[in-house]
Amino acid sequence: MKVAIIGTGFVGVTSCVVYASFGNQVIGLDVDQSKVESLNKGKVPFYEPKLTELLKTGLNEGNLKFTTTYEEAISEADVVIVAVGTPSASDGAIDLSYIANSVAQAAPFLKEGAVLAIKSTVLPGTLAQVKKIVGNLTDKKIHYASLPEFLKEGTAVDDTLYPDRIVIGTENKTAFAILEELHRPFQAPILSVKPESAQLTKYASNNYLALRIVYANVLAEICEKTDADIDEVIEAMGYEKRIGKHYWYPGLGYGGSCFPKDVKALAHFCHDKKIVDNLFSFMTQFNTNRPIQVLKRLEKVMGSFAKKKIAVLGLSFKPNTDDQRESPALAVIPALLEAGAQVSAFDPMVKKIADAKIANHSHYKQEMEIEGAVKDADLIIILIEWPQIIGFDFAKVKANKPQFFFDTRGQFSLKKIQDAGYLYLRVGRQF
Ligand code: UDX
Repeated sequence: MKVAIIGTGFVGVTSCVVYASFGNQVIGLDVDQSKVESLNKGKVPFYEPKLTELLKTGLNEGNLKFTTTYEEAISEADVVIVAVGTPSASDGAIDLSYIANSVAQAAPFLKEGAVLAIKSTVLPGTLAQVKKIVGNLTDKKIHYASLPEFLKEGTAVDDTLYPDRIVIGTENKTAFAILEELHRPFQAPILSVKPESAQLTKYASNNYLALRIVYANVLAEICEKTDADIDEVIEAMGYEKRIGKHYWYPGLGYGGSCFPKDVKALAHFCHDKKIVDNLFSFMTQFNTNRPIQVLKRLEKVMGSFAKKKIAVLGLSFKPNTDDQRESPALAVIPALLEAGAQVSAFDPMVKKIADAKIANHSHYKQEMEIEGAVKDADLIIILIEWPQIIGFDFAKVKANKPQFFFDTRGQFSLKKIQDAGYLYLRVGRQF
């Protein structure tokens, strides 16, 4: 099948290489010339495991290419998939301008009978808007569908190759038949639902997962102020089959390109539709406040941060990605600098922190080796559970002075870190 994919972010590039790997003829389209040139040379402009290998295979086999030209990408495509960003507007609403713009540009080139599928995360009602835009720009018969994406950064390729399910939101039989054929090789359950259900499923899934994390962190706060231990609580609750132990480990809150934006968007949508939105608003409020609340308590325990050397380990929003969007570092480091600390940071993949104000701050230094960052630190904060950080031997860099070790991911053995001589504190345990 001939497939065009508009937008070459995480979702777009991953979709391109995966559809191509199943023998489809795929063209990826992006307005960013340098991105397109780099992709055509086999270079992925961001870090994502396994993506480069599949990209190279697709290019070498001749069934994958990238272009900046709508006509080239769209005019022969049986299926056009829109995977452009839907960022947050300042009031939390989603900004649909990339979607509106890309479908309007694609419309004149769509061939008769093409399927136009929206993979970008959009709220119920958006497909109807897309239909209207495109319908005003072409007389051809186009079949519309919503095709939400559920991949995670860091495991994007495997999530896309082996999805838990494919959700096709359309009331158009032709659109469903063509998309079902395209997705048959994935060997996953294919669900046929209304477009609005598909759109809401994506938000509902992300908000539910974010809610589990908020819930874990609310419990973690209770534990931090009592003698309960969050790991024991989650373990004990998790034996209940209705609950499970997966996907609610505590920390400083959820980050990344999806959860913060999607929770805000659903809150805004509910508010707009006069549906009670307190739950989603609370989630954002709690998640935003969590790092600051934790730091305040930490400062009470160890004394003022002013003039202390503090090592911050992990700058991406999670391991196996160089994406810093809404990473805990971007909340924690400014608060530490504001309090007068000297911050030395390390990340195995992020070579420069995204926030220029932090990067240029005279009390901020980014080290290329973990040893440099933690040397003589009064406090070491583990923000991200990179294997390189978890596996590091902190005993060999212990200085001859009291040093606090704050584990926000609950990954270290209390005994090991205490035996090395650190004062060990951990989220979800009293401190
Ligand atoms: C998420 C969804 O999982 C995915 O289905 C959707 O398509 C896009 O958004 P992603 O943002 O890549 O994926 O990362 P994910 O691994 O889900 O983590 C999101 C955030 O939650 C990270 O900040 C992570 O550290 C945090 N998290 C995750 C926790 O704090 N605890 C957990 O138990 C899981």
